[in-house]
Amino acid sequence: MQRITSEHSPLSFLSQRLAYANQNGIEALNLVENVPVWPDAARPKDRQRDSNDMFRYAPAEGESRLRQLLLDRERSKAGNDPYLLGENNLLVTNGATQAFALVLALVEPTRRKILCQNSTFVGMASLMRSRGFSVVHCPRGIDAVTWMAENLSNDVAAIYLNTPHNPTGCAVPKDDILSLAALAERYRLELIVDAVYEDYVFDGLDASIPRLPHCDHFFLINSVSKNYGSPGLRIGWVVASKKNIDRLTGVLERECVAVCSIAQSRAADVLENGNVSLVHHVERNRKGVFEALRSVRGGAFASTSAGTQVMLQCEVDDIEAFADYSLSKYGLILATARNYANIASQSVRIPLGDDPRKTSEGIKRLSDSLQAYADDHIYSERLC
Ligand SMILES: Cc1ncc(COP(=O)(O)O)c(C=O)c1O
Repeated sequence: MQRITSEHSPLSFLSQRLAYANQNGIEALNLVENVPVWPDAARPKDRQRDSNDMFRYAPAEGESRLRQLLLDRERSKAGNDPYLLGENNLLVTNGATQAFALVLALVEPTRRKILCQNSTFVGMASLMRSRGFSVVHCPRGIDAVTWMAENLSNDVAAIYLNTPHNPTGCAVPKDDILSLAALAERYRLELIVDAVYEDYVFDGLDASIPRLPHCDHFFLINSVSKNYGSPGLRIGWVVASKKNIDRLTGVLERECVAVCSIAQSRAADVLENGNVSLVHHVERNRKGVFEALRSVRGGAFASTSAGTQVMLQCEVDDIEAFADYSLSKYGLILATARNYANIASQSVRIPLGDDPRKTSEGIKRLSDSLQAYADDHIYSERLC
């Protein structure tokens, strides 16, 4: 069978598939994004402001309108004592990715390990590795918080906690986050909470995340990419103590002067619009996706109560070979387990918040492709 992807390419498997479709003029159905897609009627307007935004630098800490809107959001999430949070606990960044990169610049460099849950979105894992840290995953089948608490040492620089987690949709209880924050203080290491799926919580699950602006070892990173369905803006933010926000602002200024002023202005519009209809869209859609996946022969999944994706375990021997096959035979581009560090399963990621018609067509093609792959595979084994 013709392979599209190769271990020797510097690109990720997903990028190789996207490039293949592009270069070969294949109008492929792209099922890879777990960014929720706004229903047309609710999509925030891209207001064409007659503004001077592009003719000036934004302040390094972020535009004041956006910061005020972010502060309102953060206070609404903060629970008991929202007014502990002030504007000087916030920094606007280029997405959660840059937020994480900036926080990593503050992490004690003589300590080498970062403890993570049992799998990690590959973008964040490779960022940690590129900074020279060793990414240590919790062994499967063990409670990650207990494992983290038992594995702290002077060699641990940070804990990276993604909640709700991509891709499992599991949420870390608030009390567990507070216990880890106390341990982080004690061991003088950083607890970094990645909350980019914070608003996608369903079925009455309690997944609230504390804000700890008085704590010098606690960082929360977030963005409009998933929570507001606007990844193209590249707008994110960090919530941390004033001392740390000052230090992070210095790093951001040194590295990129400021975040794009036009993008900040658009992000402020998006925040003002709110994300209620986007979250409802995912909530409505996910039930239909779970239903459709139940009828996929050769596929199995565990439904989740949070997040914007579900992993479908496929009965194939090599998920990468299968995803190449699906693209070449069925014009379907899939995100596979390769998108995550430390996932061993033969699984593909199914979005819960994409356009329902597109998702349904994608699942149909996936189902046909699984069936045909099994038939072809048996046939070629018999020929050998
Ligand atoms: C867990 C997690 N963190 C961070 C990011 C990156 O977010 P951003 O687009 O804000 O850089 C992603 C994107 O998929 C993600 O899944």
